[in-house]
Amino acid sequence: MKVLEIKGKKELSGSIRVSGAKNASVALIPAAILADEESTICNIPEITDTDALCEILEFLGVEVKRASESIVIDPSNMKNLEIKDNYCKKLRASYYFMGALLGKYKKVTMCFPGGCSIGKRPINLHLKGFEALGATITNNGNKYTVEAEELKGANIYLDIASVGATINIMLAAVKAEGTTIIDNAAKEPEIVNIATFLNSMGAKVTGAGTSTIKIRGVKELHGCFHEAIPDRIEAGTYMIIGALCGNRLKIDNIIPNHVEAVISKLQEIGVEIEIGADYVVVTKPQKFKTTNIKTSVYPGFPTDLQQPFTVLLTQAVGKSKVEETIWENRFMHVVYLNDLGADVTVKNQTATVLGPTPLTGTHVVATDLRAGAAMVTAGLIAEGTTIITNIDHILRGYENIVEKLISVGAKIESKEI
Ligand code: EPU
Repeated sequence: MKVLEIKGKKELSGSIRVSGAKNASVALIPAAILADEESTICNIPEITDTDALCEILEFLGVEVKRASESIVIDPSNMKNLEIKDNYCKKLRASYYFMGALLGKYKKVTMCFPGGCSIGKRPINLHLKGFEALGATITNNGNKYTVEAEELKGANIYLDIASVGATINIMLAAVKAEGTTIIDNAAKEPEIVNIATFLNSMGAKVTGAGTSTIKIRGVKELHGCFHEAIPDRIEAGTYMIIGALCGNRLKIDNIIPNHVEAVISKLQEIGVEIEIGADYVVVTKPQKFKTTNIKTSVYPGFPTDLQQPFTVLLTQAVGKSKVEETIWENRFMHVVYLNDLGADVTVKNQTATVLGPTPLTGTHVVATDLRAGAAMVTAGLIAEGTTIITNIDHILRGYENIVEKLISVGAKIESKEI
């Protein structure tokens, strides 16, 4: 079994370069099949989630060349095959092939996607969008066939500003006849990044980044060159780590605007942050003040950073609260945090954190991706040795996490036990 072993309490300084955004990359890769020609996308992180999507591309007959963080995708010889269940189950974002294959071939069959167990994660809004575009949906157990004679632009109101549904509907609509308007669309930077890619391929998408996105359908899309944005969640994770153990820890290659909510919460609890054009420098303060966090859609405090931030709040003097509003099951890290010595209770989707509590290393589990990031964060401030199991979750989303942390002075090792 592969584990991460961390010997905590080391001061971290130097620079960590943030990789391309996982949650943009996992949509850019499927989106590339909408063109009839080769596209090159750079700044794609080498993580197991992007590997899994490349496997799906290859299964579909798409030529994929990867060199470091660049990926060249040539769909000119692809076929519309039913994606095998084991591929879909590997990750949540396999569902972007629903929108992309529907948009390209007007038919797709695939099963319900996998991913972290942080809630029920229904796909009703994705399907509602496809139906509005003229598709019919046949659901047989876990399998969905979505098909249309013709896709026609429509007005679609999303009951929830869902990231996945917004992107999936954009993918299905770019080649539809006429104009599609998505209202109450999600506004996350990843959506803007996908829309920019589609536009570079010849699509006509406007309004991405606002709650109304307009897509005028085009007949054809061509190959292009594109770059994934920096990963704001990876950046935020290292900023939190910097706040706990940093001595001028530089988090480089970021878009500071994208992490504004985290910067402001860190400043509120007393962390000193130097903000540059594409970096921040974070230093641990003498002591942390308490605060309350409520997760929310962008530009609010991101749910994906709630778990690592909870670790930080265990070191604040007094009582803090963390309210999770996006996912029903995103406090699985708390039991392990308490095993390490924290005092956190969860009631009605709100964690109450009493601090400061010293943490002491023990065996903990990465129950999902960001819970894993929380365990790494906790291990870095714990006295003694922390062993984290189930680390596949962490490797799905953090490129070279071990190497990056070692390079700034952490004692962390990935080993077989
Ligand atoms: N929802 C529905 N029906 C739908 C779609 C969503 O009820 O058809 C609900 C969800 O159950 C959830 C809320 O709407 O309660 C928001 O879900 P959303 O669709 O926005 O999330 P997602 O697209 O599945 C992406 C990221 C998540 C991130 C959320 C919120 C990817 C691959 N995943 O998920 O990232 O937490 O947006 O920002 O982009 C992570 O990186 O650890 C992660 C889980």
